[in-house]
Amino acid sequence: MSDTFRVAVVGFGVMGRYHANVYAALPGVELHAVVEPEADRRRAAAELYGCATFADLSSMLATVRVDAASVASPTSTHHELASRLLEEGVHVLVEKPVATLVSEAKALAAQSRRLGLVMQVGHITRFYKAVQRLRLEVRLPYLIEARRLTPSARIRDVGVILDLMIHDIDIVLSLVDSPVATVGVAGHTINGSPFEDVAAAQIVFANGCIARFLASRVAPDAERSLVVAEANRTFRLDFAREPHTEMAIYQPRPSNDDNNHVHVDRHVIFEDNPLRKELSHFLARIRLSATPIGTLEDDLRALTLASDLIQRLNPQVATALAAPAD
Ligand SMILES: NC(=O)c1ccc[n+]([C@@H]2O[C@H](COP(=O)([O-])OP(=O)(O)OC[C@H]3O[C@@H](n4cnc5c(N)ncnc54)[C@H](O)[C@@H]3O)[C@@H](O)[C@H]2O)c1
Repeated sequence: MSDTFRVAVVGFGVMGRYHANVYAALPGVELHAVVEPEADRRRAAAELYGCATFADLSSMLATVRVDAASVASPTSTHHELASRLLEEGVHVLVEKPVATLVSEAKALAAQSRRLGLVMQVGHITRFYKAVQRLRLEVRLPYLIEARRLTPSARIRDVGVILDLMIHDIDIVLSLVDSPVATVGVAGHTINGSPFEDVAAAQIVFANGCIARFLASRVAPDAERSLVVAEANRTFRLDFAREPHTEMAIYQPRPSNDDNNHVHVDRHVIFEDNPLRKELSHFLARIRLSATPIGTLEDDLRALTLASDLIQRLNPQVATALAAPAD
């Protein structure tokens, strides 16, 4: 491996551009190639970064050698592209969700292990300081509510559960140390979309914690919030204030009269480019064997739960309430 670390970005859409921007600015890293089927986007990448560009992954693999790559193409292509890169000895960061099917995700995890290569999934919320703080502070939540709403329906190949809700599923699974007991979900497809655009889910864990999720990509406004309640504290996070996360911590305050007194601590947390942290961590895992922040097992748990929710939604019926799990 040479001193300069060569990386590629596969898929130069919204996320791919962010990845390319970060790699291009990281010391000791060369953004060597971009793979993108659309010619105008390839031209933009060549102009911005002076890197080689290719219309498909086969052409790139036949022409240049890279040490690592980000796969930021549509989710339905992740499995095939990541698998080909791994087989060529390339460490891979796959945007979330790792794949559309749990079986594909398991196959990729096994392949990366067999080949001794790093595969990291782009669960960016793991690199939010506010989420890291929450994971340190939360002990035994009894109620979690996560809302992730956006007016953007850019993603067309998967529904809103794999597109948006999976972020919150991943956070919640990292906060609750108990197996899932029951699952319920309802959803809507809007304007003839083949996938759910709105989904509401409720998960009850074996320890009694209730997690409620709402995700929509047809909402009038963006909203990304999380409320975590435990016996003596409630955390309320607002992620929609980028580049800051607002965190309020509510605690009952002892009082001599009958009024309820609640003490509120408000924090404005500067998130300082979580994608740069995510990609730097990916490179540190490859070059310095850094301990992973989030494992492939964590990725699989989140995808397995998301897939379970999707299977319970009846795509033919606009509102499909699922039966509780056995
Ligand atoms: N981590 C996050 O917060 C986050 C946010 C948004 C999207 N994503 C994920 O990133 C991925 C891409 O989403 P996006 O919003 O950038 O979508 P996008 O449509 O803006 O970009 C996808 C790009 O991939 C290209 N592409 C299609 N097929 C390809 C192929 N076979 N090889 C190479 N490129 C190909 C498309 O032409 C397009 O330019 C999705 O998996 C999505 O879930 C993650």
